[in-house]
Amino acid sequence: MHYTSKLPDIQTTIFTTVGNLARKHDAIDLSQGFPNFGADTKLIELAAQAMRQGYNQYAPMQGYYGLREAIAHKIAKAHDHEYHPESEITITVGATQAIFTAITAFVHSGDEVIVIKPAYDCYEPAIELNGGVPVCLQLNSPEYTINWTAFKKLITPKTKMVVLNTPHNPTGRILSKDDMQKLEDILRPTNIILLSDEVYEHIVFDGKDHESACRYPDLANRSFICASFGKTFHVTGWKLGYCAAPVALMKEFQKVHQFAVFCVDHPAQRAMAEYLEDEEHYLGLNSFYQQKRDFFLKSLESSRFKIQPSEGTYFQLLDYTQITKEGDEVFAKRLITQYQVASIPISSFNTNQEDHNVLRFCFAKKEATLEKALEILCKL
Ligand SMILES: Cc1ncc(COP(=O)(O)O)c(C=O)c1O
Repeated sequence: MHYTSKLPDIQTTIFTTVGNLARKHDAIDLSQGFPNFGADTKLIELAAQAMRQGYNQYAPMQGYYGLREAIAHKIAKAHDHEYHPESEITITVGATQAIFTAITAFVHSGDEVIVIKPAYDCYEPAIELNGGVPVCLQLNSPEYTINWTAFKKLITPKTKMVVLNTPHNPTGRILSKDDMQKLEDILRPTNIILLSDEVYEHIVFDGKDHESACRYPDLANRSFICASFGKTFHVTGWKLGYCAAPVALMKEFQKVHQFAVFCVDHPAQRAMAEYLEDEEHYLGLNSFYQQKRDFFLKSLESSRFKIQPSEGTYFQLLDYTQITKEGDEVFAKRLITQYQVASIPISSFNTNQEDHNVLRFCFAKKEATLEKALEILCKL
């Protein structure tokens, strides 16, 4: 059979390669971005209860209304921005589907989409599958900040969308109020849509605030806010997320959503709606993960890694230039095969695979797992 691939350049992802190697060598896996501890049993019980109560058939296309209401309430309280649950919120199969759907609904052939690198890996394939052209801006390193002057220069009459991610995977940086205001000023005279990936919205450290795009009126008017309950409630396997946007944008989004998935797992939505009633379930996440970050970093003080503490997400980048001059993929593989600790080399997420000699470690792990890994990392 002959066919032409729509994504000819996509190879096996670094996550699969590293994950397979980690399993083969029985390595402590700090590469994959999910917790190795359980979710709250209350949430599990709520899902089981929803199934027993008979919520086992299709949910409404936009999502269970009670969950949309709970989300609207949560956003209004955190960011003082009102989304109408009837017309401005859709429940999705994780943030990934929200991102894919927003891109598919708006990116036409030849449209340009600005992507900040290093970038989570689902943005560019989605743009390309729709005939769009990713236009990449590499973050300044080692601080991983956005050069807004360089950003502005990338805007052309063909720019349809900007993809932003804060808190940022893989760097652990968060965008400040000043960043968001600069972005708002740059986009104000344009017709550009903002796709704001905020899946780590509840994992921000040191008393800082998550600057959602919806806090900025002109950004809110042009934004899709994409979020993930999987990330927030330690249930990445549920693939439950949502998207919020002004009604005109959401209308187009739902035209695609209804033919891509129509609707999302019903009992999980019922459970989540009830679970969200207690805001401590998500407001407590910052300190829960800060404890893990601090534990991880304190132990690394005696190591040869250079550290810039993560500001958000459950990832920590470590610069290993005092340990070896090897490239990041080579060193990441050797860490697995020789020392049995798995991490992600981030060159594959950079423009032109730039190698800054840093690895990404996920600290969403049990303390015992982190302890074992730290013992090894401190001896390198
Ligand atoms: C930045 C970012 N966006 C989106 C996702 C996907 O979220 P979900 O699992 O809800 O689809 C991830 C998952 O790792 C992520 O890190």
